[in-house]
Amino acid sequence: MKVLGIETSCDECSASVVEDGEKILSNIIATQIPFHAKWNGVVPEIASRKHTEWIYAVTKEALDTAGLSADEIDALAVTSRPGLLGSLLVGLCFAKAFAWAKGLPFIAVDHMLAHLYAPRLLPETKCDYPFLGLLVSGGHTIICRADDFDNITVLGTTIDDAAGEAFDKVAKHYNFGYPGGAVIDKMAQNGDSEAFRFPMPSLHKGDHRYDVSYSGIKNAVVNQLDTFKVKQNYTQEDIAASFQKTVVNILLRALLNAAEDTGITKIVAGGGVAANSYLRSTLAKQTHLNCIFPPPDLCGDNAAMIAGIGFQYLKRGEQSPLNTTPSARVAGFKKKYP
Ligand code: KG4
Ligand code: ZN
Repeated sequence: MKVLGIETSCDECSASVVEDGEKILSNIIATQIPFHAKWNGVVPEIASRKHTEWIYAVTKEALDTAGLSADEIDALAVTSRPGLLGSLLVGLCFAKAFAWAKGLPFIAVDHMLAHLYAPRLLPETKCDYPFLGLLVSGGHTIICRADDFDNITVLGTTIDDAAGEAFDKVAKHYNFGYPGGAVIDKMAQNGDSEAFRFPMPSLHKGDHRYDVSYSGIKNAVVNQLDTFKVKQNYTQEDIAASFQKTVVNILLRALLNAAEDTGITKIVAGGGVAANSYLRSTLAKQTHLNCIFPPPDLCGDNAAMIAGIGFQYLKRGEQSPLNTTPSARVAGFKKKYP
């Protein structure tokens, strides 16, 4: 079954054809970064306008690259949540119109579940359930147990800002550039991560053993830089490296707790922050864990993961109604405290 996937939840306009949930025939990702860089962040109005302008051409390129005509597609899958509502609407309406015009099955999927599905698209990263999921994106930070592609138990989340959001906000404050995570990752390679000793959040006990918090570190870097300085003549690269190290240490502490308590040592990372080189190298050093990272283009937003997970629902005979509406919120990822 060839599924056409559409992803427009934020600032990547993406279309992809995936066969039988595993074989990527095409994965076109048109990034809007240059249009948002001037504002150091995603401007929702610009994002939805660009998706409207681009979605047809991006989809056509995905079909052409796959060597298929629109009549050779078997089903449509699209992100319906979470994301920017105006952006989600563009992809959702486009996919619904495509499915309706061609009389095809249509499935609306949760973008965060799709991030966890991404490693299944490549033979070298494909792995069996159960595993621990580390979902780190611009809007979410979730540590969960995955027993199937849609059977997720949330163990921990951020109690305030998401990891990606912290990267973006620190980069914006210091005018490092956009998108913050990728820029800080690059700057940090020339920085001294010991130049500042930023505080770790104190929550990591009891019900919060797997939770993380990023508002404290963000505040420390933005408003209290001198309080935490160890080196006198520091550079911007030093700020980036010290901040990045603390962000990763916060994630690592919660993840190690989850691995220890569940006995699950297989970790699948997903979301834009999973592209971070320091996070990847730090987890690689945890030799008792088997950490699976998709390649960077499958960590960030892409339609291949949407088409892939969409196939799994369709295989079970599930479809979504054509009056499905988008939602800004993530579904089924709420942590239940005892
Ligand atoms: O998953 P994603 O592409 O979009 C959302 O679903 O949010 O994640 C975007 C986030 C942004 O906060 C961006 O700064 C961050 O991923 N990001 C990174 C890196 N590349 C992108 N964060 C750290 N290191 C990177 N190399
Ligand atoms: Zn994402």
